[in-house]
Amino acid sequence: MKKIKKLFKESEINKRVKELSNELYSEYGSEKVVFVCTLKGAVFFACDLLKKYKGEARLEFLRASSYKGKKSTGKIELNLSISKENIEGEHVIIIEDIVDTGNTLKFLKEYIGGMNPKSVKIITLLDKKARREVDIDADYCGFEIDDLFVVGYGLDYDQKYRNLPYIGVIE
Ligand code: IMP
Ligand code: MG
Repeated sequence: MKKIKKLFKESEINKRVKELSNELYSEYGSEKVVFVCTLKGAVFFACDLLKKYKGEARLEFLRASSYKGKKSTGKIELNLSISKENIEGEHVIIIEDIVDTGNTLKFLKEYIGGMNPKSVKIITLLDKKARREVDIDADYCGFEIDDLFVVGYGLDYDQKYRNLPYIGVIE
């Protein structure tokens, strides 16, 4: 295993996830929310966020991929879809691990938006704003980061390192 330099330790992530969860609850209150977790990267974040969320929540999953190794291809594929009946007329929050070029998010927002939700917002754990290629932003963000390739807490490099409890950079 390569050496990983810590960027956000477990306790920092925990604290920030708790804050985000409270922020969502204060916004949505007693209304039902359908959380759409994007596989695989956002799964750790989604579990922690939802365990801390006090409102009525449903959980759906979808999977889109664009990455081969460290390079984005820009072309998005949907590998696992959601049925419209779970989205139509609902408040939806898409849970992402990281927004990089923004291509995935744009694709997902259009895909979910096409199912006629009552509202759709995006929460991402990490945001690399400097790398954006398309004009899209998350509504809620855990941490903004520089143009670094990060792993851990669900994020992978060629499917490795997802299980690290912290977020780090491969040295
Ligand atoms: P985008 O379409 O370029 O915004 O890419 C978004 C997706 O690329 C994310 O959901 C991740 O799966 C992956 N990705 C982007 N940057 C990183 C990174 O630093 N580490 C791990 N995966 C990343
Ligand atoms: Mg992803």
